[in-house]
Amino acid sequence: MKNKIIIANWKDNPATLVETEELFKAEIYIAKRYENVQTVICPPTEFLEQLLQGGPVNRAALYGAQDVFWPENSKPTVPISHVLVGHSERRYDLGETDEIVNQKLKAVLEEGIVPVLFVGERGGESREEILTVQLAKDLAGLSVEQVSKILFTYEPVWAISTNPGGHSDTPENALEAIKFIDDFLTINYKLKTKNYLYGGSVNENNVADFLKHPEISGVVVGKASLDSNRFLQILNATTMIL
Ligand code: PGA
Repeated sequence: MKNKIIIANWKDNPATLVETEELFKAEIYIAKRYENVQTVICPPTEFLEQLLQGGPVNRAALYGAQDVFWPENSKPTVPISHVLVGHSERRYDLGETDEIVNQKLKAVLEEGIVPVLFVGERGGESREEILTVQLAKDLAGLSVEQVSKILFTYEPVWAISTNPGGHSDTPENALEAIKFIDDFLTINYKLKTKNYLYGGSVNENNVADFLKHPEISGVVVGKASLDSNRFLQILNATTMIL
């Protein structure tokens, strides 16, 4: 893995294929200029096939799916390296249970693809309790080797920019949560090398505050990754602290 990883989670944006292709090209071009940072672009699911099918995909960036979308017993049809699993919009808006998250993790791992697992509290409950339940259930039945392949992302739901009042967590709080996840994995799996990401209102102004900590290997960026100029600034700020 490169020094730091930036995952651009576009969700359902842009709205059209033409706009998506434009943003895709612009951000791959930017990723090429910052090759010391590992960029992973996750375009809208509905355009993923068109964007990645046919023709070699530019290697300046890696590509991710926002969900497991291939039917059981079939293979992913596009060259993706990462899949987002357990994002709060799926957990809470679509009712995805921890048992489903667990099945998806297994499916992704079986294909040799890196799962990016989202965990985090909604606010108003105990962060530690939520993290413990999510980790215990999401990882049920996985081997130590499988767990070692997961990119754990602490993303408090209240911090997501599109949620009411959404604002980023402080790096200090995020580090505390990451330490809690790390302790869980150390106790239960005895893993030595682990990579943790933070997500929730990351932008060009705060990205370095998170990434300057060696415990934080990367960030997941939603809204700010939809503007190629802001995306460029995020990569630029990241290289400054490497
Ligand atoms: P945000 O989204 O950066 O817009 O807060 C992050 C996410 O939902 O993964």
